[in-house]
Amino acid sequence: MYISKRGWSFIKIIIFFLCLSPFLLLINDTIQDQLGANPIQALHFNLGDWALRFLCIGLALKPLKRLTKQSWPLRFRRMMGLFTFFYASSHFLVYIVLDLSLSWEEFVDEVPKSPYILVGLFTYLLLIALAITSTKAMQKRLGKRWVQLHKLVYVAGISAVIHYLWLVKSDIGEPLIYASIMFVLLGFRLQNYIKNRKAVAALVKQRSTT
Ligand code: HEM
Repeated sequence: MYISKRGWSFIKIIIFFLCLSPFLLLINDTIQDQLGANPIQALHFNLGDWALRFLCIGLALKPLKRLTKQSWPLRFRRMMGLFTFFYASSHFLVYIVLDLSLSWEEFVDEVPKSPYILVGLFTYLLLIALAITSTKAMQKRLGKRWVQLHKLVYVAGISAVIHYLWLVKSDIGEPLIYASIMFVLLGFRLQNYIKNRKAVAALVKQRSTT
């Protein structure tokens, strides 16, 4: 089915507001005092959950392209990446501003006691690097290095799941679901990588014999 440039712009606007809606609903719930007994924790956890969900959605777009043999999923890769960054930044801000009341002493005290926070910070640093270099201009400027750099999204996926698995004390059901999704997505990527390597090796061999 042919979709014009204007059509894609319209679809992108709808998807944009769909991605923003969890944030708007959370703000609304906060204002209406609907976040339960511990609203700061609920806000913090929900934003972390959405950051991880958007990371999974972004990673699923390439496999979706292969499965559907359509290129449209890749049109949304940048938006999903930026929404991952947006939710992760909000998650971080709620922690620093509302949880720790911007207390540097508390932060320095808490981090060594909770290594999962270090893993969260590491993941966030990767997301910053990916967000800064996500523009078309950066893509052009970095050339082949851009592709290499953006493979870090897989490292971010693994470390985000480790962050979640590590912080959960008893019920690991939900983090295990994310770990399984990440396992499947990374498996898909690895399978493609091996396939491509084999194809290149076969081509080189064919050329050297002719
Ligand atoms: C910027 C650095 C980060 C810090 C300082 C941080 C810190 C935290 C803390 C303190 C918790 C709550 C732990 C508890 O009270 O038991 C948490 C939960 C969580 N974080 Fe992070 N985090 C960071 C980055 C990230 C990133 C980048 C992601 C995902 C891409 C993420 C996803 C989650 C998830 C899914 C939860 C659990 C939410 C739930 O239980 O429903 N975090 N984080």
